[in-house]
Amino acid sequence: ELREQAPRSSVYDAPSLGLSTRLRRNRKSEWARRLVRENAVTTDDLIWPLFVVEGDNARTPIASMPGVERLTIDQVVRDAERAVALGIPCIALFPYTDPALRDETGSEAWNGNNLVCQSVRAIKKEFPDLGVLCDVALDPYTSHGHDGLLQGGRILNDETVAVLVRQALVQAEAGCDVIAPSDMMDGRVGAIREALDDAGFGDVQIMAYAAKYASAFYGPFRDAIGSAKALNGDKRTYQMDPANSDEAIREVELDLAEGADMVMVKPGMPYLDIIRRVKDTFAVPTFAYQVSGEYAMIMGAINNGWLDRDRVIMESLVAFKRAGADGVLTYFAPEAAERIRAGR
Ligand code: PBG
Repeated sequence: ELREQAPRSSVYDAPSLGLSTRLRRNRKSEWARRLVRENAVTTDDLIWPLFVVEGDNARTPIASMPGVERLTIDQVVRDAERAVALGIPCIALFPYTDPALRDETGSEAWNGNNLVCQSVRAIKKEFPDLGVLCDVALDPYTSHGHDGLLQGGRILNDETVAVLVRQALVQAEAGCDVIAPSDMMDGRVGAIREALDDAGFGDVQIMAYAAKYASAFYGPFRDAIGSAKALNGDKRTYQMDPANSDEAIREVELDLAEGADMVMVKPGMPYLDIIRRVKDTFAVPTFAYQVSGEYAMIMGAINNGWLDRDRVIMESLVAFKRAGADGVLTYFAPEAAERIRAGR
């Protein structure tokens, strides 16, 4: 009844395929793999986003972003010091604004003594050679959580651009190196460029959040800056539809024409195809933002033992380089820099 069994060894006796090309030869050992490796993440590619909050000597964990904290200004200066020690070229600052300071128009955004401006001054005083990027948008400052001025249920474009210009100017005055408009209003890059130049900030760069999608992956960030509960509605009348790709090319083209020095695609991992198209089309400095939800997703799986921390973080980052990105904004920046330094 039993089927006759072939001798066990026959499985290993298959004839050679006679292949002249065998791609596995270049993978045979670590040195050989290193030799043919096409892309690498270096510390020079990293921008580290940090959250800043009012107070003294406090670091408050953000529940939906394990390992990320809201930092008081003295502590943000300590993380700036860590960035310098690790060789990270640039940090990005995001404020958690006291709810009492939030209002309908987000007027705290153009208060030259707001949390972001104070942080920039404190960081620049100690570490003048560290790049500091500031986000331009009203959402950390508005009572309704939107990036622009809201009237009758609509986000006003040109009126918003006028106040974003004021926000960019106070940040530049504080010593910010890179202005990064994340609001997705039409025409804001050109208006900010002109205002910066007129005010004598011709050297301040603009990194445009050029192709920014209306994404569910921003959820943890909105917790971090305290705008999640406030937000009424969604941002789909100004952020892009995740289904679109040609439109990203038009957004980037306009931002470049208006004077953007660098462009960004956001979120990151689900939009690698957009990074590749942008880089191939324009050949300009192109950045990816591995956003809060991507960080949360990876950390959640790591903390559950479902993904291997020692492999998944760097794999997620090299994917951006492979897609054509010149650099990445990532909450993993310090850990990545440590791994790069240690060769792991
Ligand atoms: C603000 C802004 C957002 C992020 C960066 N700048 C959130 C949003 O547009 O709602 C998201 C960053 C992240 O999720 O890590 N306009």
